[in-house]
Order: sequence, then C-alpha cells, then structure tokens
Amino acid sequence: MKKIIKILIFLSFLLGFSGLAYLQERSEEGLVIPNEEIGAPEIVYNKPVKGVLFSHKYHVGELGLSCESCHPKLFEMQALKAQENPDFNMNALYQGKYCGACHDGKMAFASNTKCATCHIGVKGLKRLEKEMKTGKK
Ligand code: HEC
Ligand code: HEC
Ligand code: HEC
Repeated sequence: MKKIIKILIFLSFLLGFSGLAYLQERSEEGLVIPNEEIGAPEIVYNKPVKGVLFSHKYHVGELGLSCESCHPKLFEMQALKAQENPDFNMNALYQGKYCGACHDGKMAFASNTKCATCHIGVKGLKRLEKEMKTGKK
C-alpha cells in the first residue's frame, strides 16, 4: 500500500513537471489564441522580447479595420512569422514598418509611447496562458 502511494506521488510530480515544460516550450515561440468569431487569432510575440500582444479582436472586431489594411502588405497571414525576421524590432517600427505603419502618432498612438500597451510582459503572458488553460477570462 505504502509503495503504491509513493508511486502515485512520483507520477503526479512527473505529470506536473511535464505540464510545466509543455507550457514553457509553447511560450518560447509565442502564443496563438484562436478566435472563432473574428476568424483570426490573438497573437503574443516572444521574440526578440517576451510578451508583445497583437489582437485581431481589437483591430478588426472593435476598430473595424479591413483585412487589406494589414494583409498582405504589412503581414503575411501566418501567426508568428514576422518574428522570424531579424528586423522585427522597435527601430523598424519607428521607420514605419510592421505595426509602425499605423502606430506613428497619427493613425494610432506612436510606437515610442505607451510601451506597456503592446508589451504586456511576462505577467500578461502568464495570465493569457492561464485563461487558455481554464477557458476563463
Ligand atoms: C491591424 C493589422 C491586421 C488586420 C486589420 C488584420 N490582421 Fe490578420 N494578422 C495580423 C498580424 C500582425 C498577424 C500575424 C503575422 C505574423 O506574426 O507574422 C496576422 C495573422 C493572420 C492570420 C494567421 C493566423 C494563424 O493562425 O496563423 C490570419 C488567418 C489572419 N491574420 C486573418 C485576418 C483576417 C481574415 C482579417 C480581416 C478580417 C485580418 N487578419 C485583419 C494583422 C492584421
Ligand atoms: C492598419 C493599422 C494598424 C496596424 C498595422 C497595427 N495597429 Fe494597433 N491600432 C491601430 C489603431 C487605429 C488603434 C486604435 C487607435 C489608438 O489607440 O491610437 C490601435 C490600437 C492598438 C492597441 C491598443 C489596444 C487597446 O486595447 O487599447 C495595441 C496594443 C495595438 N494597437 C498593438 C498593435 C501591434 C502590436 C501591432 C503590430 C503587430 C499593431 N497594433 C498594428 C491600428 C493598427
Ligand atoms: C505598437 C506596439 C508597440 C509599442 C507601443 C512598443 N513596442 Fe516594443 N516591440 C513591439 C514589437 C511588435 C516588437 C517585436 C516583437 C517582440 O520582441 O516580441 C517589440 C520589441 C521591442 C524590443 C526588443 C527589440 C528591440 O528593438 O530592441 C524592445 C527593447 C522594446 N520593444 C521596447 C519598447 C519600449 C521601451 C517601448 C516604449 C517606448 C515600446 N517598445 C513600445 C511593439 C511595440
């Protein structure tokens, strides 16, 4: 009996750890959270820095931007593709590339302001992961 309990405890540890490893592996690249209503996901970039949120729900659902305002000129329709480019960084944004095409202080708040609005950080990332796991907001 004691042996069985020990084995059970060991197994639950193992499961716990592999669960953790799985989450970490996924958040290494970033997050892609499907949204059925909009038909395009919420995306969190982790490269080069962790925790930058792009929301279709906000840009399409709330602002009503057309797909063509971003696709295919600014972004391909493939989540986390942009972060494979070595120039996916603030300098490019300041030069009007990627998000910076709109986040220039005219059409939308400038990329050198309100850092934490785009950079939800590691905390924000953890919160989203939790929401994904529990399905709750
Ligand atoms: C304000 C900009 C913007 C608008 C507007 C926009 N998208 Fe996107 N979309 C993005 C970005 C950014 C990505 C991620 C690209 C990347 O990471 O390289 C993306 C990725 C996607 C993807 C890939 C998802 C995946 O899982 O790989 C699909 C599909 C998509 N968009 C569909 C749409 C559709 C349909 C519309 C119009 C209803 C739309 N988008 C409007 C910015 C936009
Ligand atoms: C086609 C234009 C366009 C592109 C491209 C674009 N945005 Fe936006 N974004 C807007 C507009 C317009 C607003 C709302 C106006 C404002 O807040 O100044 C906005 C607002 C936001 C907000 C505020 C959301 C909120 O809840 O208040 C965030 C965060 C954001 N964008 C992130 C991004 C990121 C990250 C990218 C690139 C991956 C991006 N945007 C690309 C047009 C764009
Ligand atoms: C409109 C959205 C947006 C705003 C506002 C924004 N960033 Fe960024 N930032 C990005 C994106 C997109 C990336 C590239 C993806 C990633 O690193 O996850 C990035 C990457 C970075 C990086 C790593 C790459 C590099 O350029 O060194 C740093 C550091 C950074 N941002 C700092 C800042 C600071 C500081 C501010 C405020 C002054 C700021 N960001 C405001 C979207 C934004």
